[in-house]
Amino acid sequence: MKNTRITYTNDIPDRESYHRLFETTGWNTKYGASAEELHTSIQQSWHLVSAFDADHLVGFGRTISDGIMHALIVDMIVLPEYQGRGIGGRILTDLLERCREHNIRDIQLFCARGKAGFYRRFGFVVRPDDAPGMQFDSQPA
Ligand SMILES: CC(C)(COP(=O)(O)OP(=O)(O)OC[C@H]1O[C@@H](n2cnc3c(N)ncnc32)[C@H](O)[C@@H]1OP(=O)(O)O)[C@@H](O)C(=O)NCCC(=O)NCCS
Repeated sequence: MKNTRITYTNDIPDRESYHRLFETTGWNTKYGASAEELHTSIQQSWHLVSAFDADHLVGFGRTISDGIMHALIVDMIVLPEYQGRGIGGRILTDLLERCREHNIRDIQLFCARGKAGFYRRFGFVVRPDDAPGMQFDSQPA
């Protein structure tokens, strides 16, 4: 485990750094987004947090929101070799803090497989079975 100091900013990371970080998740197999598209997507965030080891982007998270009613936390990513050091928790805490400052009524996220325990630590609960989250399926069975 590295012992270097991590710094956190609300600045948009450069497109190549973010593209590299995003590719570590495997999500882009499904999305097929270019570095340019990813960059545009994060530019349109309501709030974001970038984590750096020196000038190396090692973590990221962002919120999409109308600023009043709804917020969706997305793209929570920490480089595999930096996971388990509190970086994801620090990013999520910052994102939630901004939502609380604005009294956002409804904060949601999509949870990746195996990550529910992480989000539970920060107050998230699974939606009830009779009021689930849903997503559009362009090719339903
Ligand atoms: C999910 C993710 C962002 C967590 O970041 P991280 O930096 O490893 O998390 P932290 O080290 O800040 O963990 C904070 C706490 O959550 C716990 N935790 C972390 N991952 C966990 C998991 N999968 N299940 C249960 N608890 C977990 C840690 O043990 C720690 O607990 P502590 O405060 O008691 O020590 C990171 O694993 C990641 O980037 N994964 C790949 C991308 C991904 O799946 N993102 C989630 C999209 S929904």
